[in-house]
Amino acid sequence: MNEKNWRFVKKRTAADGAVYVSVDKTRYRRTGGAELQAEAEFQRRIADLNYPVPHVLEEGVTDDGHYYVVEESLGDQTLHERAVASLDGGRALHGDVVDTAEQVAARMLRAQAAHLAQPTPGSLRQWLDSAGFTQNVFQENPDLDNPRTHAVLDHALDRLGTVPLVRGHLDYGLPNVLPAGVIDWQHHGLVPLGYDVLPALEIIAFKGYTAGPGQRRRYLAVLDDASLNATGQPISQNLGAYLLVKALFFLALMRPTDPSRMDKHLKWQYRRHLFTKGLEQYECTGTVDTALFPRLEEFAAGHSAGDHP
Ligand SMILES: Nc1ncnc2c1ncn2[C@@H]1O[C@H](COP(=O)(O)OP(=O)(O)O)[C@@H](O)[C@H]1O
Ligand SMILES: [Mg+2]
Repeated sequence: MNEKNWRFVKKRTAADGAVYVSVDKTRYRRTGGAELQAEAEFQRRIADLNYPVPHVLEEGVTDDGHYYVVEESLGDQTLHERAVASLDGGRALHGDVVDTAEQVAARMLRAQAAHLAQPTPGSLRQWLDSAGFTQNVFQENPDLDNPRTHAVLDHALDRLGTVPLVRGHLDYGLPNVLPAGVIDWQHHGLVPLGYDVLPALEIIAFKGYTAGPGQRRRYLAVLDDASLNATGQPISQNLGAYLLVKALFFLALMRPTDPSRMDKHLKWQYRRHLFTKGLEQYECTGTVDTALFPRLEEFAAGHSAGDHP
């Protein structure tokens, strides 16, 4: 492995290690520890199952003892980058981005539905805890670790009891989607069918832009169609339960250690607010409508005006 041929891209978001791109941009290299080895093994397995993922080309140990994996590039721009580039000052998503998001999500869902995993009695609970980082969220937000939260989460799990389990991504969203497939399988595990792909156009609200109501409806309809064809069941009725878990995921690791970082404090409070709002909505209606979430700036304005204690 010749270091001259690789350019640093970024440190890995939620793990040790980094991402590099080859000078000719045809390949990506990740470094890390044992968890990267597990990620690569998972990725090889699902590539064999026809998931839209980059092929692993090479694996080994670097001179300084780190594990590394080389995979093919799936292209130059993630859908998040395409979405942001096409925003043009507005907040709505470009139609092309939605079309592409639908196509990739439907391919992913079909591959998942074609290879159901064997559930065990604890597997749904395990999914909730790993997908929602519940241990961290309740540690950082002990006031949310209360009977009300647990009653709502238990209810959501009950509703998901009959949904098939499949091999999943757990951090599926436009930043990890390219037209040719899905990258960054660091958080992989078993998920109820639809957990990965259904919330993708909802959770962009956490990143400051939105899809229109028609776009969101069509996206869900395309995925219901794909699921109906593959399993005989639609899946969009589970979106509310999935968004509760996403609201936990987006709250994880947000509590700042440095109390003087007011910017981080505000973001943490914002994510707490979105989780609480989602919980209330789910309690009242059995679903979660991200269109009713305030933007960070709106929340911040209310916050400084004293609306939020
Ligand atoms: N196989 C790939 N094809 C195309 N782009 C990639 C690929 N792997 C990584 N990238 C690019 O590198 C960035 C970081 O990689 P990623 O594994 O998503 O890191 P992180 O875990 O920090 O999110 C991605 O957002 C994407 O732009
Ligand atoms: Mg990523």
